[in-house]
Amino acid sequence: MTKGFKVKLGEGGFGSVYKGKLQSGLDVAVKMLSISKDNGQDFVNEVATLGRIHHVNVVGLIGYCVEGKKRGLIYEYMPNGSLDKFLFSKEGIVPLSYEKIYEISLGISHGIAYLHRDCDVQILHFDIKPHNILLDDNFTPKVSDFGLAKLYPTKDKSIILTAIRGTLGYMAPELFYKNVGGVSHKADVYSFGMLLMEMASRRKNSDPHAEHSSQNYFPFWIHDQFTEDKDIDMEGASEMDKILIRKMFIVALWCIQLKPCDRPTMSKVVEMIEGKTESLEIPPKPSFYPHEMLEHGGTINSDEISWSDSTSYNMSVDKNMANHSYSE
Ligand SMILES: Nc1ncnc2c1ncn2[C@@H]1O[C@H](COP(=O)(O)OP(=O)(O)OP(=O)(O)O)[C@@H](O)[C@H]1O
Ligand SMILES: [Mg+2]
Repeated sequence: MTKGFKVKLGEGGFGSVYKGKLQSGLDVAVKMLSISKDNGQDFVNEVATLGRIHHVNVVGLIGYCVEGKKRGLIYEYMPNGSLDKFLFSKEGIVPLSYEKIYEISLGISHGIAYLHRDCDVQILHFDIKPHNILLDDNFTPKVSDFGLAKLYPTKDKSIILTAIRGTLGYMAPELFYKNVGGVSHKADVYSFGMLLMEMASRRKNSDPHAEHSSQNYFPFWIHDQFTEDKDIDMEGASEMDKILIRKMFIVALWCIQLKPCDRPTMSKVVEMIEGKTESLEIPPKPSFYPHEMLEHGGTINSDEISWSDSTSYNMSVDKNMANHSYSE
């Protein structure tokens, strides 16, 4: 099925992504999913729903292919690839301006709010991270890989997780621990918060090699700076930029509160990002799993995983969380 595809764009947890061209001349990205056991009908039904989703900040699904056990999803091609390569400094890549980063963060929040609220079915993403934010030729952000986790009818409040997957460093604590709260759209708010924090700081949240050990876990450090009224010195940032950055940090700190009920909804997040920095209160200092887990020797105790037996949890957890907060 992929014989004609010469350019491999990348590989993720679900399979490989190739660049292709439709007969009309349109460039597309084809995601080949790992071998599936179903007869193809569930896949086709799900794709039919996803294909009806249209939003300027969501990657368009153009079509699909089924051949034997192989399943392919055909998406709009995004020439600027994924956000991760613009966030964390890499050779040969011009960093985005703070203003652009702010605009992109607003676009992403609109995209997720749309998936949560405004389309016919509520879609919980469960894998929001820089790699799943793609950029078109104008750097308009598009949320990708939505619906690869399950689709949930909006009215059905009881959520059964069948094949949840996510990436350490962005996954909400309720996916690991009992007693934090139920799994809901707020899990995406948490992941967005972690992403927003990284966008504002242009660095990864967990950095075991940070210059000062207090900076190992960036969200704690940034909260301390705010409560101690210290200025956050960002390289090359103008006074205007600093206001935007501060706003992004405060919103991010709200999004990554430990308890889902303390986090805002995605629509509220959109309002906060669009609103005035001065009108935002500093939230309580969030407490996080990496810290607690490091204290417990860095392992996830299976007693602490709050989901039912029917849930398949297909992510391996490494012992040393500090060095493996990210999937790569
Ligand atoms: N529509 C697209 N247009 C252009 N590049 C794409 C497109 N979709 C994916 N890619 C590229 O392919 C890479 C691999 O994507 P893939 O979704 O398989 O992995 P991932 O996002 O790193 O992880 P995950 O499986 O958790 O989504 C992406 O990082 C991106 O650079
Ligand atoms: Mg992806």
